Amino acid sequence: MNTAQFIPSAFNFSIEKATYTWQTPSNIALIKYWGKSDPQIPKNASISFTLQNCHTITSIDFVKKNTASEITFELFFEGIKKESFKPKIAQFFDRIKEYCPYIFEYNMVINSENSFPHSSGIASSASGLSAIAMCLLNLEKELNPSLSSAFINQKASLLARLGSGSASRSIEGPLVVWGNHPEIKGSSDLFGVQFPYKVHVVFENYQDAILLVDKGEKQVSSTVGHNLMHKHPYAEQRFAQANENLTKLSEILQNGDVDAFINIVESEALTLHAMMLTSNPYFILMKPNTLEIINKIWKFREETKSKICFTLDAGANVHVLYPENEKEKVNHFIQEILANYCQKKQYIFDTVGFGAKKVVNYRHKNH
Ligand code: PMV
Repeated sequence: MNTAQFIPSAFNFSIEKATYTWQTPSNIALIKYWGKSDPQIPKNASISFTLQNCHTITSIDFVKKNTASEITFELFFEGIKKESFKPKIAQFFDRIKEYCPYIFEYNMVINSENSFPHSSGIASSASGLSAIAMCLLNLEKELNPSLSSAFINQKASLLARLGSGSASRSIEGPLVVWGNHPEIKGSSDLFGVQFPYKVHVVFENYQDAILLVDKGEKQVSSTVGHNLMHKHPYAEQRFAQANENLTKLSEILQNGDVDAFINIVESEALTLHAMMLTSNPYFILMKPNTLEIINKIWKFREETKSKICFTLDAGANVHVLYPENEKEKVNHFIQEILANYCQKKQYIFDTVGFGAKKVVNYRHKNH
């Protein structure tokens, strides 16, 4: 794998002081990534919808310092200095330092906020790390103006991947593949790529309502969960199945067969959780209301012939997916019925989005 192309040589330009702000989205996997090897190389290819409303906005102030012997930064989350978030970001910088040696030369002040409620159970690592990656690439672009936007997206995705695998799919949209797959042109284990084929109109503006079933800390982190795939009795079959499912889903996304889409997406969600149930040690991230919601979705689909379906992340929340032309009917069903199974009746209506956006003149809470 050619990672050398992402290591910059000396720059012709010098910058003393700069601030960049980027908004990057969360994403929801349709074919799940669960299992990896070092350094964050996925055991199978995955594909996700990029979201629009669930995003992070991050600014980094870069100020050149006199000595460049260590990486120095401060971190504010929603206006408050967050020492507790620092180790994760320090580890991220450590993993990417060979690709971004310039980070040694600056003191960085990071200001970050999410559009979705903190501790909602929505993973913020994908949007959070991809936003930092875009700010770094913005600086790199100023140091080397010849960089193409294709290179910037690839490298930002590569950096984000080193922080959290799924973050590699949060740079572009509306559909991103991460992981080398023989039938997805340009796909790579190193970074996410936009799904390269024409997508059927039914999948345009697809809706994703996120039902907040449990907003607590997860009992088992995804790092631990990924590691449990190493000695998992069904691991090899699972990785092969995910790649086969991606072959099928690639066809489906092009031909618009929504029933086949539902079948694969729901099976992927349940298989992800089946891997957790059959790990050793085993664990369960679903809650009783996760299952109540799934059953209600199946009943509604049966009774109304709706094309509604669900998927799950590594948690108890349910993502409800449906075509745009069913928005009114399904939103009503969510508000009237499914909301009753959510913590404090909370849910977020989201829709498929297009990836990272530069933000100008943004004022964070502590400014
Ligand atoms: O990016 P990580 O290491 O938090 O792993 C996330 C894995 C899932 O969200 C469960 C699936 C996926 O492909 O996003």
